[in-house]
Amino acid sequence: MITNMKSQYRVVSDDKLATLKKRENNLFQQRTPKSKETFERAQKMLLNGVPMPWMGDWGTSHPLFVEKASGNRVTDIDNNEYLDFCLGDTGAMFGHSPEPTAVAVAEQVRNGITTMLPTERALWIGSELSRRFGLPFWQVAMTATEANRYVIRTCRALTKRPKVLVMNECYHGSLDESLPHIGPDGKIELRTDYDSNPGIAKNALTRVVEFNDLASLERELAFKDVACVLAEPIMTNCGMVLPEPGYHEKLRELCTRYGSFLVIDETHTFSTGPGGYTAAFGLKPDFITLGKSIAGGIPVAVYGFTSKIAEKINSTFGRKSVSDPMGIGGTLSGNAFAIRAMEATLKEVATSEAFERMIAGQNRLSDGLEAVLKKHAIPWSVTRSGARCEMQFMPQLPVNGSEAKAHFDWELMYYTHLYLANRGVLITPFHNMMLVPPMATDVDIDRIVQLWDDCMAELVTPAHIQGLVCNSDRCPKASN
Ligand SMILES: Cc1ncc(COP(=O)(O)O)c(C=O)c1O
Repeated sequence: MITNMKSQYRVVSDDKLATLKKRENNLFQQRTPKSKETFERAQKMLLNGVPMPWMGDWGTSHPLFVEKASGNRVTDIDNNEYLDFCLGDTGAMFGHSPEPTAVAVAEQVRNGITTMLPTERALWIGSELSRRFGLPFWQVAMTATEANRYVIRTCRALTKRPKVLVMNECYHGSLDESLPHIGPDGKIELRTDYDSNPGIAKNALTRVVEFNDLASLERELAFKDVACVLAEPIMTNCGMVLPEPGYHEKLRELCTRYGSFLVIDETHTFSTGPGGYTAAFGLKPDFITLGKSIAGGIPVAVYGFTSKIAEKINSTFGRKSVSDPMGIGGTLSGNAFAIRAMEATLKEVATSEAFERMIAGQNRLSDGLEAVLKKHAIPWSVTRSGARCEMQFMPQLPVNGSEAKAHFDWELMYYTHLYLANRGVLITPFHNMMLVPPMATDVDIDRIVQLWDDCMAELVTPAHIQGLVCNSDRCPKASN
C-alpha cells in the first residue's frame, strides 16, 4: 500500500499532524493492551500477526482483536465497544449477525451443511434475485471475487475474445484482470503497490479507461477484443465516484455496439436499495455480480444474466455438463447452509424497510458531515449514495479514479480513523467510507458527526485553509 500520498487540501501542517498522531497512538496503546499483546503473540504463527493481510491494514499500530459483534456494535478483547460504520467493508451491511440469518443458519447447520446437491430453497433465491435485479437466471458462488471470475470466464467463452475492460482505480476482488491501472505515463500497468509482485499477471488481458470517459471507452471497445466491461455502477473503492448524467446509458449502448458484455458489479452498490443501483437507476446489464452482504455476512455471492446468455451457454457447452467445460468450480458454492443464509437475509433482513432506514440514516450523516466541513471552512466534500457516504479530501466530487486518487492522503486519513477509534467509532480502512446499517439510531449518527466535528476543530489550522484554493469549475462556489 502506498502511504506517502498527500492531498493538496490537507488542512493541517505536517508537524501538527505528527504531534496529534503521536498522542492518538499512545492513547490507542493504552486502550487496547490485550489486542497489542495478542498481536505480538500472533507474529509467531500468523504472517504479520493476522489471518489475512487486510486485517492488519487499519493504520493502527496493531489491529483490534474482536471479542464479539452484534448489530452496529463491535466489542474488542479489551472490552472497548465501537459503533461500527465499517461493517466488515459491506459484508455486514445490515448489521452484525442479523437475528433471522443467525436463527436460520443455526437450524441448517444441524440439517446438512453441504451435499453438492441443490435444496428447494434455491428456487426462491433465483426468483427473488430476478424480482429485485431484473435478470432472470442466477448462479451461486462463494465470494464476489469468484463471481466476477466466473462471469469473466463465461464472457470470454461466449465472445471468444480475450480482454476485460475495467475502470481506472477499480477494485473487483483479487482478479489479475482487474488489478492493472493507468500509469503516470498513460500506459496500462499494475498499481505501484503491486508492480514488483511477479505473482500477479501483468496487463496482457486488460484494457483500462477512466470512469465517465466515454471517448476512451469507445476507442478501446473499437478494438473488438473486449469480452466484457466489468464496472461498478458507482466507483466505491477509490473514494466514491458517481456517474455523470447519461453515462450508464451510453456505456450500455457502446457495449452493445462493439459486441462486449456489460457486467455490473453490485457488491458494494447493493447499498443503493433492495435491487441495488441497477434497479434504482434502471440499468440494463448483461450480467450482475454481487457478494459480501447478500447472506448477512456468511460467504455467499451470486451472479445473474439474461435469458439470451443462458441459451447461449447451453448451446455452446451443452446443458448437461455446464460446469466442467466452463471451468466453473467451487465445491462448497450454493450449499444448503449458504442458500439458507441468503434466504433468511433476503426475506427478513435486506428488506425495503431496512433500506429506507439505512438511506435516511446516511442522509442524516452526510448532512451532518457537510455541516462540519462548512463550520470549519474545510475544502473537502462528501459523496453520498444509498446507505454509504465518503468524506473526500477534495472540494469537488471526483469524476474518475485518477482524480479521486490524486487527493488520497493515507496519513491524514488514518489519523482521523484512529481519532474516531479511540473514541469508540470504526469506519472503513483504505478510504473514508461510512456505511449506515438499519439499526443505527439518530444518536449513533450524531455521535460520529460530533466526533468528526471535534477532530476537525482540533486538527485544522485556519491559516492553512486560506491557501487552499480550488481551481476546478466543479468546486462548490462560496456562499455569502
Ligand atoms: C466492488 C467489489 N467487487 C468485488 C469485491 C471482492 O469481494 P470479496 O473480497 O468478498 O471477494 C470487492 C471487495 O471489496 C468489491 O469492492
